Amino acid sequence: MSLKNKKILLVIGGGISAYKSLDLIRLLQRKGSSIKVVLTKSGKKFVTSLSISSLSKNRVFEDIFDEKNKGKMDHISLSRWADAILVLPTTANFMSKLSRGSADDLATTIILAANKEIFLIPAMNVRMWLHKATQKNFNTLINYGYKFIGPVDGEMACGEYGKGKMSSPRQVLSYLEKFFKQKNYLKKKNISAIVTTGPTREYIDPVRFISNDSSGKQGYEIALELSRLGVKTTLISGPTNINYSNEIKIKKVTSGKEMFEAVKKKLPTDIAVCSAAVSDFKPLKRKKEKIKKKLKLSEIKLEYNPDILEFLGKNNRYKPKLLVGFSSETENIISNSMEKMQNKFCDIMVANDVSKKGIGFNSDFNEVIIIDKKGNTEKIKKNSKRFIASILARKIMNSFLDIKKNLN
Ligand code: C5P
Repeated sequence: MSLKNKKILLVIGGGISAYKSLDLIRLLQRKGSSIKVVLTKSGKKFVTSLSISSLSKNRVFEDIFDEKNKGKMDHISLSRWADAILVLPTTANFMSKLSRGSADDLATTIILAANKEIFLIPAMNVRMWLHKATQKNFNTLINYGYKFIGPVDGEMACGEYGKGKMSSPRQVLSYLEKFFKQKNYLKKKNISAIVTTGPTREYIDPVRFISNDSSGKQGYEIALELSRLGVKTTLISGPTNINYSNEIKIKKVTSGKEMFEAVKKKLPTDIAVCSAAVSDFKPLKRKKEKIKKKLKLSEIKLEYNPDILEFLGKNNRYKPKLLVGFSSETENIISNSMEKMQNKFCDIMVANDVSKKGIGFNSDFNEVIIIDKKGNTEKIKKNSKRFIASILARKIMNSFLDIKKNLN
């Protein structure tokens, strides 16, 4: 049932397993999905456009510069049409192109421009799969957020045996069914989340402010992942350089006070993830005119910003069902973070060591320790913030569903 009325964009790659795409089209159709197909140049060597269009009941898309399509941009319209994009088979060469960000034909251009979940279904010889270059591309693509279905162990068309065999159309179907089932379930439950991210700016006068180096990337990626899991997510973000996707609702704020007000407006919420690096203090008064150099420094008085996480944790009326805090530390990471977790009444604390170079503040990478209320810890080794976000979002959802089960 979960595939009923789903729109699937199927990219057929250039490998012997391409013929299995015909089976997959029929299986998906039986489940009520509609299918559009992009046939790559090398895919055409294995299956014909005629057999696909007869089966899919739709024209087959092949060329990025298709003159039949005046005024329409297929690489945008197709990915916006789709609920999910599949690449079957995904060859070693296609993986290499995607990991470089190539956009030299319709298929790669669609994928680069896509705002939907992309499932890669690899098929290749075992040595090709295990080659360091392919494994490096595999890791890169996971970090970019692509999902892999397979490959599995088995006998290949070339006669060799090992990992590299494509998942069968039925395995692909069952993976997709599970994926959409969970997504539909979460959507139906209408679960809401707020995520705070980025730094705040506390203006001293019209041109000077107190702030920090937070890039806001980790919170942004978490918000995207939660939204992709089917959670109604609002990102409340301080000033960043992020080019925000329109997949999620964004409320942009500048100061800690504005962030606090924006959070309060969104209450009640099921889940709150406070990843923002809110400035701890702010000037008592913002001067209207630019302060002259001769000002005595003691004239700038500071006061504390409201602690949003603590407010949520202590709020009897509107405490989110699941509250997640972040804790940046340079020493005694776990014990300090646990103390913070207790003081601010969080359910999960995500700790990171900001003394380490190349992770955390102003970096695309992170390394975190997830601490739960029972004191269990789980370390996620250095990886892209997107990868860390995908693990955190799944953990957050599982903890939320556990809490709900215990409440019911
Ligand atoms: O105590 P510390 O600032 O290290 O705690 C960090 C956690 O508290 C983060 O989750 C951060 O988003 C949150 N926080 C907040 N409001 C503040 C300060 C911190 O929500 N004013």
